Amino acid sequence: MNPPSDSALGASMSEVLFSAQDIATKVVEMGAELADHYRGKRPLVVGILNGCFPFIADLVRAMDIELEVDFMSVSSYGAGTKSTGVVRFIKDLNQPIQGRHVLLVEDIIDTGLTLRYLTEALQTRKPESIEVCALLDKQAGRTQNIEVRWRGFMCPDAFVVGYGLDYAGIYRNLPYVGVLDPSVYRGK
Ligand code: IMP
Repeated sequence: MNPPSDSALGASMSEVLFSAQDIATKVVEMGAELADHYRGKRPLVVGILNGCFPFIADLVRAMDIELEVDFMSVSSYGAGTKSTGVVRFIKDLNQPIQGRHVLLVEDIIDTGLTLRYLTEALQTRKPESIEVCALLDKQAGRTQNIEVRWRGFMCPDAFVVGYGLDYAGIYRNLPYVGVLDPSVYRGK
């Protein structure tokens, strides 16, 4: 699918992978499944900032159960398009998680380094359970063995932006997920 031709941000995109409608439909499906799984357990839904913000906002509104929301922030990319392999811890949870059901919400999983680091750090706090829910799963990039219990879409091996995902801080506000034209970052 081509990006809208009258969009200023869309002009930097080579292809739309998942339209706003594709995403909305999928997120409602995922929310219903998660609600069934967590009903009566009052999960702590943890968004991994910054990219999770549209996804977690739509996801929790599709979960018709009691739940709480918190956020964590780590960084493994800097301003580039390849993982540096170094995960930096920026913001921790606001509350203890001992005995809680924790659902980690990620925009995209690439190498899996971020999630491995986070789940290992959180396991030491003795939660009742930790599961992972990701909108996009880029399996070609995986170097870590992690279990993704709920995923929205499989993502091709390309650098994608939109619906929370950025390149150098830009494009998070696109309503769809698309492939960034490599001319935008080539040579950087
Ligand atoms: P991982 O640690 O390699 O699994 O990377 C996870 C994080 O890298 C995600 O939360 C994103 O912030 C970022 N990331 C990975 N792939 C992409 C991409 O294609 N576009 C934008 N950000 C990405």
